[in-house]
Amino acid sequence: MTDCLTPPAAAADSLSSSVDMKEYGAYTNSPPIVAAHCADDCIHVAWQLLDTRESAAYPLLWLRDHCACDACRHPQTYERTQFIIDLDPNCLEMAPAISVEGGHLALIWSDGHASRFDAGWLYRLRPQQQAWQPSIVPANQAWAEHFIPHRSDFVDYMAGGNARLDWLHALCRDGFAILQNGPSEGGEIDQVAATIGPIRASNFGGRFEVFSKPKPNNAAYTALGLELHTDLTNWKNPPDIQMLYCLANDAQGGESIFADGVAVAEALREQDPQAFRLLAETAIDCRFADEEVDLVTRATVIHLDEHDQVIEVRFNNWLRDSLRLPPAQIMPWYRAYLAFWKILRSPRYRLDLRLAAGEMVAFDNRRVMHGRKSFDPQTGRRHLQGCYVDYDMVESALRVTARQTAGVTS
Ligand code: OGA
Ligand code: ZN
Ligand code: ZN
Repeated sequence: MTDCLTPPAAAADSLSSSVDMKEYGAYTNSPPIVAAHCADDCIHVAWQLLDTRESAAYPLLWLRDHCACDACRHPQTYERTQFIIDLDPNCLEMAPAISVEGGHLALIWSDGHASRFDAGWLYRLRPQQQAWQPSIVPANQAWAEHFIPHRSDFVDYMAGGNARLDWLHALCRDGFAILQNGPSEGGEIDQVAATIGPIRASNFGGRFEVFSKPKPNNAAYTALGLELHTDLTNWKNPPDIQMLYCLANDAQGGESIFADGVAVAEALREQDPQAFRLLAETAIDCRFADEEVDLVTRATVIHLDEHDQVIEVRFNNWLRDSLRLPPAQIMPWYRAYLAFWKILRSPRYRLDLRLAAGEMVAFDNRRVMHGRKSFDPQTGRRHLQGCYVDYDMVESALRVTARQTAGVTS
């Protein structure tokens, strides 16, 4: 391709209503485009900001690929229906005719196709701007000492708006959030899940009932204390977010315990780097078996990403299967496991609370460990309803709520 010889397009003084780029959510407000020209197989676009001029270069192929006309993006689903592989390869050889219409960029390509690009949309996607995609989903933040969880009232959350936005934000950031002062008739957890997405089912069903059962197939369904753990470590893909809604907590005991696996793993990394490495590199067997299922996987206790950051902790003592490791690794692995467990037990990392009827905890089951103290079923009723939902749907709910609270409907 050669440089395009199209002359600079005329400036516009004010931005007319936005071009529909077939995206939900608002485009960044930007001033109108004041100039556009083609050079080096790119369209160079300029905006006049308060006292400076900003410009950006968009490759011709990128622009054609992002055309949002009804032929290139489906008018109802907004999905891309154009395949650049099928474009006439010559159609980008010649510079498109460029104009600035109402402050937005308009191109007519050499094959006659017409594309329009919103000035604010283009501004947001300036290729040279590294942080061009500010994510509304916050990064994980390890719990500090004396971590105080975010709380919202059930009715405020259900009403949507900022209360829901803040709650979902806290859940993504801390891997933990509480709803309080809700009803306790039963089934409320379904209403909460419905604000997020479909329930992720497991071998224990969709919504599960946690109370002391006559024929338990799971420690949670007894009155035993539950050591801090993450659920379903025996699955290749354990559930992401767990929600436990308290309907009654009148028995003696039964207080809840939580700990942030990221904070505990980081403490281990600092105190005993060798143990940390071992738990991050040695996979062990996890298994759940009853009359109907036999679910087994082999996974490490600590999971790291490519930057060596802790992204997941799997810790569940009763789902740990017989330890199958080479002889020289058995004792070092146990020592590392116990070093992790010792930190986990230390009050510095524990969050203790007693769930009240009408209160719900939601936590990141891939990161935050949960447990409970034993209770005496003779002294009163204890009943929680639980379910899991996927991260993807939590993040989606956060984005949609943000869109709604910004007053944007489509
Ligand atoms: C569970 C669980 C905790 C509790 O159901 O997975 O750990 O407080 N329950 O009963
Ligand atoms: Zn098009
Ligand atoms: Zn559990």
